[in-house]
Amino acid sequence: MSQVSERLAALSPSETLAMSQKSNELKAQGIDVINLSVGEPDFFTPDFIKEAAKKAIDDNFSFYAPVPGFLPLRNAIVSKLKKENNLDYKPEQIVCSNGAKQAVCNVLLCIINPGDEVIVPAPYWVSYVEMVKLAEGRNVIVSADIEQDFKITPAQLEAAVTPRTKAFILCSPSNPTGSVYSKEELKGLADVLARYPDIIIIADEIYEHINYIGKHESIAQFENIRERVVIVNGVSKAYAMTGWRLGWIAAPQWIASACNKLQGQYTSSPGNIAQKAAEAAYLGPQDCVETMRQAFERRRNLIVQLASDIPGLKVRQPKGAFYLFPDCSYYIGKSFNGNKINNSADLAMYLLEEGHVAAVGGLAFGAPNCIRFSYATSDENLIEAMARVKKALSVLQ
Ligand SMILES: Cc1ncc(COP(=O)(O)O)c(C=O)c1O
Repeated sequence: MSQVSERLAALSPSETLAMSQKSNELKAQGIDVINLSVGEPDFFTPDFIKEAAKKAIDDNFSFYAPVPGFLPLRNAIVSKLKKENNLDYKPEQIVCSNGAKQAVCNVLLCIINPGDEVIVPAPYWVSYVEMVKLAEGRNVIVSADIEQDFKITPAQLEAAVTPRTKAFILCSPSNPTGSVYSKEELKGLADVLARYPDIIIIADEIYEHINYIGKHESIAQFENIRERVVIVNGVSKAYAMTGWRLGWIAAPQWIASACNKLQGQYTSSPGNIAQKAAEAAYLGPQDCVETMRQAFERRRNLIVQLASDIPGLKVRQPKGAFYLFPDCSYYIGKSFNGNKINNSADLAMYLLEEGHVAAVGGLAFGAPNCIRFSYATSDENLIEAMARVKKALSVLQ
C-alpha cells in the first residue's frame, strides 16, 4: 500500500532522467545507444579545481560549514558578480545550495503561499513547474513557439499578470530551447515588471557562460526591478561540475535570509569539498570556461547543419546552452508498424527504441511539438546520432 502525500502524488517524475535511465537500460542489454538526453557537459572538471578539492580534504574541511556556504566562497561569488555582471552584492545576500536546482526550489518554497501564481514561460526547464507544485503554487504558463524564437514578449507577460502573481521565472540562455534574450528584450520585460512591484523575478542564469552571441545580459541590471531579482547560478555547466552539486542565489536580503533559514532546517550547507572546489573555480584562471564554450559552439554549428538536413524537422539555431530544440510536428500523427506517434514523447521513445538515440520529447518542457537533443557530446556521436534520427524518421508513414 502506498501512502505518499498528496503533495508528492501531484509531482511528475523527471522526464529527462527517465529517458536517460531508459537509455542506460538498453545499453546494459548491449545495445549501442547514443545518449543525447542528458543536460551536462561531457568534459572533465578542470584539474586546478580538482586539486583545490583534494587540498580541502587534506586540510580537514570536514566540519559543518555555515548554512549559506563558507565566507570565502560567497566573497568569490560577489567578486564574480561585480567583475562579470557589474552587479553589487554583499556576501550576506548569497546563499549556496546543493546545485542551482535546490537554489530555485528554496526560493519558491520561501515566497509562495498556497494558490499564489508563478508565471513560467514555455518551453521551460522541467523542474520549475514541479517545484511550483511542491510549493503549492499555481503555474501560469506563457507559451512562445519556434516562430518567436521561443521568447515571450512584454505583452504576453503583461497579459499573464493577475493580483495573485507572486513570481516570474526567466531562464536565459534557456534549457531546453537555447534561446537567449537580448538586452533590449530583457528591458521590455523589466519595464512590464516595474509596474507590478509585488512580483519576484527569478533569473536562472546557469547557462550564462555558454553563450554564442556575446556578453551575458542579466535582467538584474535594470534598476527599476533590481531589488526584486533573484539570480540563480552555479558551477555545474560553466565548469563541468554537475556532480559536485554547487549552486547559489544572489538575492534581496529578505529572500537570502529566508533561504538561509529554510536550508538551515533542511539540508544545511552544500558539501564542504564542493564549496572549496567552487571557490577555486571562481578565483582561478577562466580560460577553461572559454575553451569549453568554443567546443559547444562548434558542436552547435555541426548539429544545426546535420538536423537542418532532415526533412520535416524545423530547426532554429540555438544561441546558448547545449540543446537543439527542433519542431517535429511534421512527424506527429505518423505511424511505424501500425503504432501511431501521438506526441513528442512517443517520438522520443520511437527514436530510442528504433534509432537507438536518446532524446527528450518536448511535452515535458511544455512544448509538445518539439524534441530536445543535447549536443554536449563528441562530433562523432553527433554525426552518427543525426544519421540514425534521419533514417528512423524516414520510415515513418
Ligand atoms: C535551466 C536549469 N536550471 C538549473 C539547473 C540545475 O543545475 P544544478 O546542476 O546546479 O542543480 C539545470 C540543470 O539541468 C538547468 O538546466
